[in-house]
Amino acid sequence: MIITVTLNPALDKTARVDVLRPNALNRLQGVTLDAGGKGVNVSAMIRSLGGESVAVGFSGGGAGEELRALVAKKGITSDFVRVAAVTRTNLKVVADDGALTEFNEPGPEIRDAEWRELEQKLSSYAAGGNTVVLSGSLPAGLGKDTYKKLSAMLRRAGASVFLDTDGEALKRALESAPEEIPDYIKPNRYELLQYFGMPDDKGAACTETELAELCRTLIGKGIKLVSLSMGEAGAIFVNGNGVWRAPALPVQVRSTVGAGDSMTGALVHGFEQGLPEEQCFALAMAASAGACTTEGTNPPSRALVDTLLTQTRMEKIA
Ligand SMILES: Nc1ncnc2c1ncn2[C@@H]1O[C@H](COP(=O)(O)OP(=O)(O)OP(=O)(O)O)[C@@H](O)[C@H]1O
Ligand SMILES: [Mg+2]
Repeated sequence: MIITVTLNPALDKTARVDVLRPNALNRLQGVTLDAGGKGVNVSAMIRSLGGESVAVGFSGGGAGEELRALVAKKGITSDFVRVAAVTRTNLKVVADDGALTEFNEPGPEIRDAEWRELEQKLSSYAAGGNTVVLSGSLPAGLGKDTYKKLSAMLRRAGASVFLDTDGEALKRALESAPEEIPDYIKPNRYELLQYFGMPDDKGAACTETELAELCRTLIGKGIKLVSLSMGEAGAIFVNGNGVWRAPALPVQVRSTVGAGDSMTGALVHGFEQGLPEEQCFALAMAASAGACTTEGTNPPSRALVDTLLTQTRMEKIA
């Protein structure tokens, strides 16, 4: 069973204007609402591939209700902890020339009792064989060691942990002992270099071999797989058996937002189906390329993923 966790979900409100005018009244057109959150994106990808997952997280107020309804509409089972504070709404305004302006709220304050309810819920899902995906930013008031603590608790209870976050939250989680550290991570290039404190120009000059070496040092800490996504440059997969690289598939790009979440969803689905490692990586390449062809964070269809799968090239380089 796969459980996705979004601690800081949002209602994504998208609207159009002809031109965005600061210091003036902007009349929004074509307002649409969608369920936002990286864990929800992962669940949507799994669903599209024919798998199942339970989306867990915090939701509150009318916006929280709307969020749960939108998640259900995607065919995803959810099990959110209801919180007193209202789920945030993030506004994205698209002008006629395509310029995107975003207004993101910080997310609700989580009370101690609400946090304990989430921990209990997750520990009840943490039976052996289950995979828990922890994705995205943390809501205000939760400490930077939140993912570190969750990973330790889940792994000790027998679950596998997939962590997709960045900055201090990632750094803390990777300080854990081998039996508590996340099993799988999917940094993008920027997040990996940020973790290693590489100054921008030094990081920019890193070759694929050097990037793979950085990933290997993480394998040395007890992580089982590092999937390094590099946008249009493709991806590198590093585990105890070696290093694979795959170029990005040539697709008509509409939106790359959430491509990484599709990669994560495809990987955990592949693991759950018991696919050989190279096939899991190939599925991740096809799913993430497919995700670039859809609007916003919508996942690609299974049919498109299957077509792209035939074009995937995976090379073992070490
Ligand atoms: N322009 C592109 N063309 C083809 N495939 C792409 C393109 N951009 C991204 N991808 C695919 O998606 C994968 C993930 O992309 P990326 O590295 O941008 O993830 P990310 O930054 O974690 O994204 P997000 O956090 O928004 O989900 C890449 O490894 C690649 O397989
Ligand atoms: Mg990402």
